[in-house]
Amino acid sequence: MKAVQVNGYGGLEQLKVVEIPIPEPGEYEVLVKVKACAINNTEIWMREGAYGSDKESGWRPEGVQFPRIPGSDITGRVVKAGSSVAPSLVDKDVVLFPFTSSGEEGREHIAEDMSFIGSEYDGGYAEYVVWPAALCYDMPLADYTESAVFSVSGLTAWHMVNQIEAHSGETILVTGANGGVGSLNVQIASRVFGAKVIAVVGDLAAEERMKELGATHVVSYRSDHLADDILAVNEGPVDSVLDVVGDALFETTLAVLKKGGKFCISGSSGGQVTTFDFRTLYLNHITMYGSVLGTREEFKDMMKAISEGKLQPVIDRTFPLEQAREAQEYFKNKGKMGKIVLIP
Ligand SMILES: NC(=O)c1ccc[n+]([C@@H]2O[C@H](COP(=O)([O-])OP(=O)(O)OC[C@H]3O[C@@H](n4cnc5c(N)ncnc54)[C@H](OP(=O)(O)O)[C@@H]3O)[C@@H](O)[C@H]2O)c1
Repeated sequence: MKAVQVNGYGGLEQLKVVEIPIPEPGEYEVLVKVKACAINNTEIWMREGAYGSDKESGWRPEGVQFPRIPGSDITGRVVKAGSSVAPSLVDKDVVLFPFTSSGEEGREHIAEDMSFIGSEYDGGYAEYVVWPAALCYDMPLADYTESAVFSVSGLTAWHMVNQIEAHSGETILVTGANGGVGSLNVQIASRVFGAKVIAVVGDLAAEERMKELGATHVVSYRSDHLADDILAVNEGPVDSVLDVVGDALFETTLAVLKKGGKFCISGSSGGQVTTFDFRTLYLNHITMYGSVLGTREEFKDMMKAISEGKLQPVIDRTFPLEQAREAQEYFKNKGKMGKIVLIP
């Protein structure tokens, strides 16, 4: 089969198109013919070794075993079942839950042995992938590409919105709102949990699309008075912040958060390291949440919401699998709207 492998920590040159044997499913696994694989920052950081402070840090402390096929947001058709898997799974269109874990139900994303497809296992930058049958779910939409864009971004967003216990009548500020996670934070917070959303983007050309996705107000981080803009549209401080940007907006987002407010962060596209005055936290009774992915139950809830039409796929563009380098380079562009998808 054709696949794209990462051969070691480094730049785009570490991504190579190769011909390798089709993997065999284990006893409890299925072989999936990959139809679409959406891109996430995680496989870019995996290649760059950017998960820690040295230059060779993997998603897990022991680092990545190379060569590795990246890619976690996978849809496709089951073409072969392992010996202990129901043969009726063959020919089903599925979406893959992106990690394994021995953690108890509801805490599987926190377990020490949590292992991620595309990092600890070969992933979806390939024509075929093997994966536990129990972690393959019915595709929520008829289209492979549209169904592929929710897995990691959507699960992360769903869990973030759940963590802050979002509800109708409150206002949530969403940073990185045009990005993969942010565009789903906007939709999930507003359309599923009923909150009022203020979306932070760079280019205000995205305003109309953001409002279609559920935002009530859209502001630009390029404004010289962003905090004032947010306080003005909301007529006061916000109840919660869902952040994926980190340093670049940290001061502003804390400044517009009400006393007793909640700040949930799952990414740091705008800087990993910041300075912080602890007084801001305790004098304002702020609760902070760190967030990585989510649970299988949340994944199922999200799939249901997608199939009910509550969440829309937001796709910026697709690339053929062979252009994985170009696709990862494109992913880093400012102003994209939603997800980038590789098509084998
Ligand atoms: N914890 C988890 O489980 C998890 C899961 C998925 C992703 N993540 C992390 O979440 C972050 C976002 O991922 P993504 O897939 O949504 O990425 P993305 O699609 O590239 O979106 C990034 C967003 O951040 C904005 N941004 C970047 N730099 C900024 C700055 N200096 N000031 C203000 N906004 C800025 C971008 O705005 P522009 O378009 O204007 O640049 C864009 O809206 C990444 O750090 C990723 O690693 C974490």
